[in-house]
Amino acid sequence: DWTMDAYREQAIAAIREQVGDKKVICALSGGVDSSVAAALLHEAIGDQLTCVFVDHGLLRLNEAEEVVAMFRDNMNLSVIHAQEQELFLGELDGVSDPETKRKIIGRLFIDVFQKYANQIAGAEFLAQGTLYPDVIESVSFSGGPSVTIKSHHNVGGLPEKMGLKLVEPLRELFKDEVRELGRELGLPASFIGRHPFPGPGLAIRCPGEITRDKLEILRKADAVYIDQIRRHGLYDDIWQAFVAILPVRTVGVMGDGRTYDFACALRAVTSVDGMTADYYPFSHDFLGETATRIINEVPGINRVTYDITSKPPGTIEWE
Ligand code: XMP
Repeated sequence: DWTMDAYREQAIAAIREQVGDKKVICALSGGVDSSVAAALLHEAIGDQLTCVFVDHGLLRLNEAEEVVAMFRDNMNLSVIHAQEQELFLGELDGVSDPETKRKIIGRLFIDVFQKYANQIAGAEFLAQGTLYPDVIESVSFSGGPSVTIKSHHNVGGLPEKMGLKLVEPLRELFKDEVRELGRELGLPASFIGRHPFPGPGLAIRCPGEITRDKLEILRKADAVYIDQIRRHGLYDDIWQAFVAILPVRTVGVMGDGRTYDFACALRAVTSVDGMTADYYPFSHDFLGETATRIINEVPGINRVTYDITSKPPGTIEWE
């Protein structure tokens, strides 16, 4: 009789067997997979685990503080908060091509991770939250013709380069099982049910050049939008929802004055695996109320649009 409790015990035994008394490092993104992997490893090997949370300046409002506080203060993990906002935003300055943005972020992420990992004396293992579907996908794609629509950024290739061995304690699990394991390990339900967030973060929700001003506006608008979705009890019905700030200013009128501010697009989709997606059929009341709130509460935005493109032909993210 297979239960998650039994799996957990077995996985912990397997980690202890593989790692022995050596040290393990883990790139913690705050996403469900890396969070559950870190919590499981912590339970298995305690302070032999060090997590590195890379803050690239492209995270959502309060995200870095919340993730670091939860793992460090509530769960007692050793977490290095790599404050590398200046580095990432500096290198992205003036860049507007989507693939170039992704490549820069992917390269810097590896550099930064490596820099912090090198400070952890004697680390021999790198932990990753690879899931079963990731394993299958990489097998079925290898050798065959591969079509890359967007380059995904992860720490692929890094273990060999750094001479680290891989620990992948979630390799046999599907996403729903990872969530169940996370609950078993005591991660808060709000954390486990979080929408996916891409590695390149807000960079790919800010088409055109990324500026600090635009990122600040985007963070505020996104927080209002997600608050609206939660207040209306819709969060768990949606696979992913976010705001993209558009690289265009539009004319508006507010009070007695003319405004000339950014337009934004709201995105919300349902999906089972992110491969295909349908736009979410919000009511017009919800959309109208959300637009009003964003324009009233977020200086810098004076126009709100709703993206009704499904995938395909659109992708979920804007870049
Ligand atoms: P697209 O935009 O390709 O996104 O329809 C499908 C799903 O993948 C996420 N995504 C990423 N996740 N690194 C990630 O970890 C990435 O570079 C990346 N790009 C897209 C996206 O948020 C959606 O859930």
